[in-house]
Amino acid sequence: MARIIGGIGTTHVPSIGKAIAEHLENDPYWRPFFRGFDYVHDWLARERPDVAVVFYNDHGLNFFLDKLPTFAVGAAAEYRNEDEGWGIPVSKSADGIAELSWHVIERLLADEFDVTMCQDMLVDHAVTIPMALMWPGQARWPVRIVPIAINTVQHPLPSLVRCLKLGRSVGRAIETFEQDLNVVVIGTGGLSHQLDGERAGFINKAFDQLCMDGLAAEPETLTRYSIPQFVEQAGAQGVEFLNWMAMRGALTGRVRELHRNYHIPISNTAAATMVFENVTAANAAGDKAQARLRPVAA
Ligand SMILES: [Fe+2]
Repeated sequence: MARIIGGIGTTHVPSIGKAIAEHLENDPYWRPFFRGFDYVHDWLARERPDVAVVFYNDHGLNFFLDKLPTFAVGAAAEYRNEDEGWGIPVSKSADGIAELSWHVIERLLADEFDVTMCQDMLVDHAVTIPMALMWPGQARWPVRIVPIAINTVQHPLPSLVRCLKLGRSVGRAIETFEQDLNVVVIGTGGLSHQLDGERAGFINKAFDQLCMDGLAAEPETLTRYSIPQFVEQAGAQGVEFLNWMAMRGALTGRVRELHRNYHIPISNTAAATMVFENVTAANAAGDKAQARLRPVAA
């Protein structure tokens, strides 16, 4: 059976892609943000996931305002990126795992989530930048992906509780998939920011901290915010936090925060990175099996 080893939340703002392309990771402006991924790299090297299930929002590359599904699940063998017009290089493609995608889709439908199924799907910077942050300098991504797009753009948006429940359904689906795989779940976007209008440049550090604390301890507490209330607190694009809620929902076991980095501003956004461990009976059994394989010290 597949195991969910943990979850990662990260911002995905396009300027990060430009900084990577220009090798600015140690530039004083960027360093505090990129150093926040040192822990992530160590954790991923230790945990070695086979698959990443990525909750994100599309920014007009695959869906546009004329047709925008609330929830869409990729079921393709490969996911390409294209020039999005942000001045960042086109990313390499990501391999899919269509059999897991279809299993997730079937389980979501059984749980009354009527998702859009995408057998042909472009993925934008909200997938490719987090991948580049987590696995830098790789010729090929070391994981296959299941992209799950959540509408955070065209109102009405799904509620926080709906996204938490979506994540829970996805988590249950992963754990009933019969292949022996280690799966990491990822939520991208946010945190507080607003790109246009009278509040352009808006950042709310106190609310971001409240969201990160809530996510770690008791995500249900965050569902008291309606979408308009959340936009008021986090900014029009801060509502990308819905992707983080779904990621957290997919963590089915005992959840522990392992790492947090928060840095403002990155291109007028509050940039955050979090790592969560997901301890389940299956994971614990896996640990015991691994422990038996370790050589005994002389
Ligand atoms: Fe975004």
